[in-house]
Amino acid sequence: MPSTTPPPRIHDDLVLEPRDVQFDWSSLPLHWIPDEPFATHTINVLHLLLPEGERWFVRVFSDALPMITDDRLREEVLGFIGQEAIHAEAHQEVLDHLLGQGLDPRPYIRQIGWLFHRVLGDKPGLTGRRRRENIIERVAFVAAIEHFTAFLGNWALNSPGLDRAQADPTMLDLLRWHGAEEVEHRSVAYDLLVHLDPGYLRRMRGMLVSGPLLVHLWVRGVRFLLAADPELRGRIRPTWREAQVQARRGLLPDPKAMARSAARYFKPGYHPTQEGSSSQALGYLATSPAARAAATH
Ligand SMILES: [Fe+2]
Ligand SMILES: [Fe+2]
Repeated sequence: MPSTTPPPRIHDDLVLEPRDVQFDWSSLPLHWIPDEPFATHTINVLHLLLPEGERWFVRVFSDALPMITDDRLREEVLGFIGQEAIHAEAHQEVLDHLLGQGLDPRPYIRQIGWLFHRVLGDKPGLTGRRRRENIIERVAFVAAIEHFTAFLGNWALNSPGLDRAQADPTMLDLLRWHGAEEVEHRSVAYDLLVHLDPGYLRRMRGMLVSGPLLVHLWVRGVRFLLAADPELRGRIRPTWREAQVQARRGLLPDPKAMARSAARYFKPGYHPTQEGSSSQALGYLATSPAARAAATH
């Protein structure tokens, strides 16, 4: 049952500003971490998942808006919706570029679209209490996924291995701008969930569904990209061992650190502000070429 007790407000001064960034992908190499196709495509899975996934976040949060009784939280949710809508379109442009390079992402995207529209989408037949329950359940999934996007965003902001490997600077800016906004708004989905249902069971269910689903989609995505890459033609097969090797080199997030981070979501005293640094995120956004250009036009 929803609580009448207001949730703790940790982000009282949070003003989420959608930054209308633009990126030019015309010179992006297929393997934008030079000679590192496995790491490139493991990160590229973000471009496969996020356009559909973040448009789904926007729909879920738009459905939840009329249920919010806290004006400040409503403002944060509106800011979150604005940021996620821009994130989705920024990653969509990378997908369009991949298609132009001969890597057709559409078979995978069709599956992701089916998942987010048919399985996790709005159920038009539901009304009243059942509709409210369905929306809160989906908010719980978003809150758990946002734990991972904040983890990945924090990693992107602290990934000098990508600079050492001379990864494409425009892609690095995309990952770090997006990562910084994920860290910046990391509390919103969780605070919305607690506002609608502070129960521990719902939060746990959100992670128990979203965590394994995300890992499954990621593994499938890496396999798909490596097989569809016109230069590789399936010569590289992904393994967990290789993922760990690349993580040690700083080219990928450490899967074990990600699992430990997911486990922290189960702690009774958990709050997203315990992960990542808002000041580091805002510091990056103050210097990001794309965010700075967005601020001036
Ligand atoms: Fe995002
Ligand atoms: Fe997000």
